[in-house]
Amino acid sequence: MNVLVAGSHGQVGQHATRILAESDHDVRGMIRAESQAQDIEDLGAEPVVADLTADVSHAVEGIDAVIFAAGSGGEDVWGVDRDGAINLIDEAVAEGIDRFVMLSSINADRPENSPEALREYLRAKAEADEYLRESDLTDTIIRPGPLTNEGGTERIRTGTDLDRGDVEIPREDVARTLVATLGIESTHGETFELAAGEEPIEEALQEPIAS
Ligand SMILES: NC(=O)c1ccc[n+]([C@@H]2O[C@H](COP(=O)([O-])OP(=O)(O)OC[C@H]3O[C@@H](n4cnc5c(N)ncnc54)[C@H](OP(=O)(O)O)[C@@H]3O)[C@@H](O)[C@H]2O)c1
Repeated sequence: MNVLVAGSHGQVGQHATRILAESDHDVRGMIRAESQAQDIEDLGAEPVVADLTADVSHAVEGIDAVIFAAGSGGEDVWGVDRDGAINLIDEAVAEGIDRFVMLSSINADRPENSPEALREYLRAKAEADEYLRESDLTDTIIRPGPLTNEGGTERIRTGTDLDRGDVEIPREDVARTLVATLGIESTHGETFELAAGEEPIEEALQEPIAS
């Protein structure tokens, strides 16, 4: 598949871009700054300069699947996390792309469970997720707990209402999960929470998503 990674130079995005480049997929990495292009090439991908808040039609040309790993970092949640995602979803539909994998967040469906400072961001993510679900795209929406920079273990836990006690997960494992869903039909049309766990990624994703 030809896969576009939005947020390719981000921390999860760089893992996802490298993992895709090492696989059988071809990968295009979306960046805002031309100065990041060499890094994306070094990861083995084709860079494309595009801003989610502007025209992204050239970024989706010839693409089969999108992985959305971009994020505002709290700066402009409505403009980037919601409307930027919606912009890319609309362009994916217009391009005739079928597959769209969204990196969302735990508690996007329950912002009241998170500290006040995160709630607006979570509401913006939830609206983008809902827009994707209602689109004609084949979606997978992944909602990890807090991200860490620990090395990946390639073992995860999935569910629809994970115990909130320990839901951290290394960014590398989030990236591996995003990429793995592309080829695993049981994840199509699914929304699930994600945390570090004991089960190998491919196995966890083959099973029905249990709480
Ligand atoms: N942090 C957590 O604990 C946590 C937990 C659950 C879910 N998440 C989600 O995971 C996402 C990825 O996390 P991360 O740590 O990889 O974030 P990150 O390192 O901040 O990466 C975000 C990427 O998005 C890009 N971006 C921002 N605005 C853009 C725009 N208008 N157009 C195109 N690209 C844009 C940034 O590009 P620039 O380099 O140009 O800024 C950056 O490459 C977060 O944004 C969040 O939604 C995070």
